[in-house]
Amino acid sequence: MSNKEQQIGGLDGFILVTASKKKRRTTQNFKCPFNIHLKNHESKKPSEESCDLGITAFLQNFKKIEENLIASDFFKEIVNLIEPLLNQAKIEAIICLGLGKLSECLISCYQLALIRCLKGKLKDFSGKIQFFDPIFTYKDIEILQLLDTAVLSENLEGKYLADQKTLFYLPHCPKQISNNLLWRNWQPELLKNVYLICNSFENIILGNPERVLNDNATYILKAEKFCKEIKFLNNFRYTDIFNDFSLHYFDTSTFFTDPGLSVEPEYKIADLELITRKIQTNLKLKNGYN
Ligand SMILES: C[S@@+](CC[C@H](N)C(=O)[O-])C[C@H]1O[C@@H](n2cnc3c(N)ncnc32)[C@H](O)[C@@H]1O
Repeated sequence: MSNKEQQIGGLDGFILVTASKKKRRTTQNFKCPFNIHLKNHESKKPSEESCDLGITAFLQNFKKIEENLIASDFFKEIVNLIEPLLNQAKIEAIICLGLGKLSECLISCYQLALIRCLKGKLKDFSGKIQFFDPIFTYKDIEILQLLDTAVLSENLEGKYLADQKTLFYLPHCPKQISNNLLWRNWQPELLKNVYLICNSFENIILGNPERVLNDNATYILKAEKFCKEIKFLNNFRYTDIFNDFSLHYFDTSTFFTDPGLSVEPEYKIADLELITRKIQTNLKLKNGYN
């Protein structure tokens, strides 16, 4: 991946934070309930940051979460790192996928806070952030609407057209969703509109066997040549909220030299990571009905 790392600090620029010596703080046993059948999951949050509240209390609490985030070195560094690029790009739309159940999960709350606070730094952006996650509950949707955002109803499996400069925010989303997004925009005039915060493509490529990548991340592999990646330094107080995040964007000037085929990705059932439209229908998962 060329020019993939814009770096902050350190001799070679990018500082790798490891969890080796010092015990890092995580949100521990209140992980997001990706298991959609898990109604009374074991996740319990520290009382001072509980998301398991009525909506008014939740919103009050969420304000504190945003204040915590804004005051953090993590946020200040992220702003320094990516705000100039995003403002130069003049982002016109923001789409967030896979936030998770924010009314039940502190990770999702902080991830929501990050995209809202980043939005606040975009000089030319006046629209609403758009959200989709097939596991949203009524309460999640109500909260998002009260926060003046838009909740999408259709499961596009990540295949969103970037016909304007769009910041896609996919916090810890399955790589197949990013792969689908790249496929949908596999033309230079579309791909140049894609700004994508998600799990590091470099780490996906380094961390998965060839078979898995060939079956589930063909477009991530193909994009490697002209993808630029800015890694986020994971120095937030909880280490499992923003870990492995990168902003990706694409230098499409070299795209025509090897665009490759643009065959719509299909995934083996055994490999499925994302909730497809079909699965959603079969499980009678309707956005907001969960
Ligand atoms: C690993 S969880 C990440 C949750 C949370 N953001 C976190 O970091 O813990 C992946 C999320 O992707 C969502 N997801 C799965 N299929 C999706 C789809 N087709 N469109 C949008 N989100 C999807 C899941 O419901 C889940 O909330």
